[in-house]
Amino acid sequence: MNSRDGVTAVDEGKLGKLLAELTLEEKVGLLTGADFWSLDAIEKIGLRKVLLSDGPNGVRGTTWDERDTSLLFPNPSALSATWDPEQVRRAGALMGAQARDKGVAWLLAPNINIHRSPLGGRHFECYSEDPQLTAAIVEGFVSGVQANGVAVTIKHYIGNESETERMTYDARISEKALREVYLVPFEAGVRAGAWSVMASYNSVNGASLTDNRRLLTEVLKEELGFDGAVVSDWFATRSTAASANAGLDVAMPGPQSPWNEALVAAVRAGEVAESVVDDKVLRVLRLAARTGYLDGFAGPAPSTTPADAGEQLREIAARAMVVLRNEGGVLPLAPSSRSRVAVLGPNAAVLTAQGGGSAHVNPTHITSPLAGLREAFGDSVEIDYREGVSTQRILPAIPADVARDPETGEPGFRVDFVSADGTVLATERRLASRLVFMGTVPPCTAEVRVRTDLTVAEGGTHQFSVSGSGDYSLRIGAAEPHAISLTSADDDPIENLVKPPEHRVSAELVAGTINVEMRMVAPDHPMVMFGLNHEAPREAADVAFAAAVEAARNADVALVFVGTTDEVESEGFDRVDLLLPGRQDELVSAVAAVNPKTVVVVNAGAPVEMPWRDEVAAVLWAWLPGQEGGGAIADALTGVVEPGGRLPTTFPAVGADSPVLSTQPVDGVIDYAEGSTFGYRAYEKAAIAPAYPFGHGLGYSTWDYEGITAAETESGAVTVEVAVRNTGVRTGREVVQLYLGGEGADGNDPLRLVGFASVNADAGESATARITVDRRILARWDESAAAWRVAGGSRTLVAARSASDRRLTTEIELKDSAV
Ligand code: BGC
Repeated sequence: MNSRDGVTAVDEGKLGKLLAELTLEEKVGLLTGADFWSLDAIEKIGLRKVLLSDGPNGVRGTTWDERDTSLLFPNPSALSATWDPEQVRRAGALMGAQARDKGVAWLLAPNINIHRSPLGGRHFECYSEDPQLTAAIVEGFVSGVQANGVAVTIKHYIGNESETERMTYDARISEKALREVYLVPFEAGVRAGAWSVMASYNSVNGASLTDNRRLLTEVLKEELGFDGAVVSDWFATRSTAASANAGLDVAMPGPQSPWNEALVAAVRAGEVAESVVDDKVLRVLRLAARTGYLDGFAGPAPSTTPADAGEQLREIAARAMVVLRNEGGVLPLAPSSRSRVAVLGPNAAVLTAQGGGSAHVNPTHITSPLAGLREAFGDSVEIDYREGVSTQRILPAIPADVARDPETGEPGFRVDFVSADGTVLATERRLASRLVFMGTVPPCTAEVRVRTDLTVAEGGTHQFSVSGSGDYSLRIGAAEPHAISLTSADDDPIENLVKPPEHRVSAELVAGTINVEMRMVAPDHPMVMFGLNHEAPREAADVAFAAAVEAARNADVALVFVGTTDEVESEGFDRVDLLLPGRQDELVSAVAAVNPKTVVVVNAGAPVEMPWRDEVAAVLWAWLPGQEGGGAIADALTGVVEPGGRLPTTFPAVGADSPVLSTQPVDGVIDYAEGSTFGYRAYEKAAIAPAYPFGHGLGYSTWDYEGITAAETESGAVTVEVAVRNTGVRTGREVVQLYLGGEGADGNDPLRLVGFASVNADAGESATARITVDRRILARWDESAAAWRVAGGSRTLVAARSASDRRLTTEIELKDSAV
């Protein structure tokens, strides 16, 4: 569905009449949030309150509360690993439907920044290192969400590829790289009809995005024809007239903001023309009309989350998984009855289903791989589970099933908001021991008090901790309370959410029930976040490690679940290396040494080093697969679903091989000096072999490439047909990738992806992949002419299974032309 195809076209005359009814104060009032997650209603013109929500892991809604649950999707890089815009459209449609159920009109997703460096903290939240793959995936997602009448927000516009100093760094990007790489996904989003764009925190070429008139008004609105609303990232607006004149439309969140009265005054002082404000209001009203929040406009058809949403998520997650290695066809697993399977590793019983940061949602459940395998194998297979190593930085949160509200005896935690004179202003019974309040702590709260009766199964030395910046007291049983004071390392409020400081205390306990009370004193920020954590006495690390290796030795198959956590992959900070946390590498090698049938499942969003990859029989990359991840992993391992994913980004052998390794600004500047030569193109240029190349993924079939033809159409596009044959023993899916060579002054520029198509074929059958490459994709940005141009000459078209596994080539002759 496209905003320009008439389906969502809005009667502009009618919008203009509504605008004319508003005073300047009413107009400006609409342009800053009423609170964290909404724009105020204006009854006199029939505008209802518009709710916004993050994305992109799901639709969190307007609270951060375990009682307000949402579907948790596979992470966005997993979606792009399908190389299947149709699957992504399906995921988008589910997300749109869920947004409708939650009354959310405006979804803050997708995140379409580029995988420039594997260290980027939000890598897991983005699609790919390749602009064309990202563009195709964006189009699928946008059309899926918006077909349900919910606005997407393509974010973060632009140059927001890393997190260090993210509020202030200046990305220096050449016009050529901007055009050929970073703008491509945004253009695709606008082409697909996106109703909103988010302006990022950082600057590009000297001007902060919220103040960047060239990029917001000249490029996005005038050149690309974007007719939706530009919303700031949260707290990103730092000026009044400059941002208003630059083309920002909505400053979030509210009610405090540099706009409001200051913007009214700026208009009255002649610093901002009222017509500029009018254009912003029209853009917001247009979004409201499109989403059904403005009376007198036909809203979208009803839509609700389908009953089989969980099954759909499970299938999408399994399809996205990537078979990186599969020696001797050890996968799919077919355990016979009475076989013994060792299930090992820190991510087996505790799946990392999502990354950290604002994308977080609270699902009703998360199926672990262990649970998924138990269900898949039933009683006939003996599962021997061992954690082996532990990777959590902060002690675990307390599960609600061992905690009781001390006053009612109901499961969970009693949270009181207490005033200075001791009056309880409000009480909540919560089911989580880590709490986040985004503007929802009642006014005049002097203390937030959390109490619970905790049942501990065994006596010994227990660890408790408080996490999150602030002043606290923590009392365990009858002991004297501990006074605790914690400070976050950074002013960015997200820091406290994703990387909170922690203070631990230990307590000698006997088995039984103990009363625990934590008080947070003087919460003084609109975002209040803290955690109460606990760990029972545990096995010594070496004992746990040895037990896992022993289990592997005695098993027919050893499945090792390694991975990251949301303490490693998160918004708010970049990674410092690509190593798996803790002793996981050591565990895999030790297991592989005692069991030749070792299968490693990697549960991570962004690349990690896998130094043991040639020691093991198989490696399945499972991503951060969302709430149904455990079932999806079992489906992929047993072949119920073909894990047909292909890598959307290059996996380096060692982190140091990555073409762009540093995400640290130097004197506030990140120089995108590599231009468009990063990712697989840089590996090719430097002749460095990655661990697994861009586009790699074995699936469960093998394929012969039998023929390629290419022809230029009248419009100047090139159509390519590639015949492939499934030479495996199962029905399978192949992603035929098309790369273009022969570019550059000497014709030696590294290849780049210009298209792809997937085909399905039964064992022994052949199929034809048809790919159309638009003229614009064949063009490069000509800096001297400031225009797209196809340079005349011959090019090579390469049909490939990955950026490195090239199968067939053909030549075409292109005529010189502007595009
Ligand atoms: C993130 C955005 C997000 C916003 C609202 C910011 O910290 O950068 O992606 O939409 O918060 O949660």
